[in-house]
Amino acid sequence: MTAKIGIVTVSDRASRGEYEDRGGPAIHEYLKEVLTSDWTPEARVIPDELSTITETLIELCDQDQCCLVVTTGGTGPARRDITPEATLAVAEKEMPGFGELMRKVSLEKVPTAILSRQTAVIRGGTLIINLPGQPKAIQECLDAVFPAVPYCIDLLE
Ligand code: MTE
Repeated sequence: MTAKIGIVTVSDRASRGEYEDRGGPAIHEYLKEVLTSDWTPEARVIPDELSTITETLIELCDQDQCCLVVTTGGTGPARRDITPEATLAVAEKEMPGFGELMRKVSLEKVPTAILSRQTAVIRGGTLIINLPGQPKAIQECLDAVFPAVPYCIDLLE
């Protein structure tokens, strides 16, 4: 069976079609470059609603059996930013090293990276990783953590 990877854009405005989602496609392009084996993307664009985010994550983990789910957006301090809370709500284990490393490398580029609250967790056989919303942050953060991702997924089997 081909591995499935969830790509979840969390954005009120992108989900309403007020602007084009650039984060999801940036993650898709990145994964196409780095992954050598076959995989299928399960892409979603959803609003910053706690219940919608948790339902989407649970579906991608439990029904679709994605090995990896990557989110973009909703990690800042704004009122509607709730992606890390939704991620923790569906977690079996927290993987704090991912957020720590992403903030460390991002802080070398922009002081506002301190505003980024992203984390990573495990639910069943799925690793869920939050990325910030800015497309330029996506590559920086994935470059930092991706070397550990295939090994982590192997350990979940
Ligand atoms: N990380 C990197 N690498 N580059 C950035 O420009 N922006 C920060 C932070 N992390 C940023 C970053 C800012 S300004 C905020 S508010 C949050 O990520 C944004 O999180 P969100 O877009 O997921 O809500």
